[in-house]
Amino acid sequence: MMVSFLGRLLRKTFLQNGCLKGTFLKQSSCTNSNERAKLTKLIKGNTEITQDHMTPEIALHLITPKCKLWHEKGEDSPFVDPFWAFYWPGGQVLSRFILDNKNLFANKTVVDIGSGCGASAISAKMAGAAHVLANDIDKVALVAVQINSELNTTSVEVSASNLIGSYNSQWDVVLLGDMFYDPEFADNISGWIKVLIPSGITLYVGDPGRLSFMNHPLKSSLKLCAEYQLPDRCKLENNGLSSGYVWSCYY
Ligand SMILES: C[S@@+](CC[C@H](N)C(=O)[O-])C[C@H]1O[C@@H](n2cnc3c(N)ncnc32)[C@H](O)[C@@H]1O
Repeated sequence: MMVSFLGRLLRKTFLQNGCLKGTFLKQSSCTNSNERAKLTKLIKGNTEITQDHMTPEIALHLITPKCKLWHEKGEDSPFVDPFWAFYWPGGQVLSRFILDNKNLFANKTVVDIGSGCGASAISAKMAGAAHVLANDIDKVALVAVQINSELNTTSVEVSASNLIGSYNSQWDVVLLGDMFYDPEFADNISGWIKVLIPSGITLYVGDPGRLSFMNHPLKSSLKLCAEYQLPDRCKLENNGLSSGYVWSCYY
């Protein structure tokens, strides 16, 4: 029962190969202020504000076992694949690392790719980053990021563009929280990272030991910066995962 909604989302992600591309490329259309207002109401009405995770300094609107939606079938959800409604283990360890090492992020321009609920972007802002861009191709996620950002009295910019493959000389730090959840997508990201690293951008990857990351050749170009035990609730929600790791480039 504990894993119902998230379990289904993960099963769908990992098992339905055909839906993967759809998931990555999905662009919810919520560009105007009316739609944003509707989504804000839906997000607030279907989530709980919780600090029960690895960064209790940050309050987040998430779907938890206390929410009706958690116990309902995915088809009954008003949201399509609400990745943003869960705080993924890779994102939790990455955000914990940011808040524990604020000096690495202070005054930097930080881009959080696949921001989801926005916790890593919010952590970077709390760490004193000069400028933070939360990027997610799911525009509903970006509304959630804005709600969560306001809740924590921070402000981050948002972008729904697909930035994987892009380069911007103003970026100092790129964050990837739990983005290696599929082998094909891992390959896309890795190809991009290989180009980013020589450009001098600092990369931080938060990952809970997913095979798509651990078995990927990219791992040999990265150094382990931190290891964390996942909290019990996170372990329950992510069957079989017990630790999370933060990786960075060698320089
Ligand atoms: C597993 S979730 C991780 C969310 C968050 N980083 C965390 O750790 O809690 C992956 C997120 O990546 C987003 N995503 C998928 N493909 C993307 C792409 N090409 N560019 C940006 N975001 C993407 C999804 O919409 C989803 O919010």
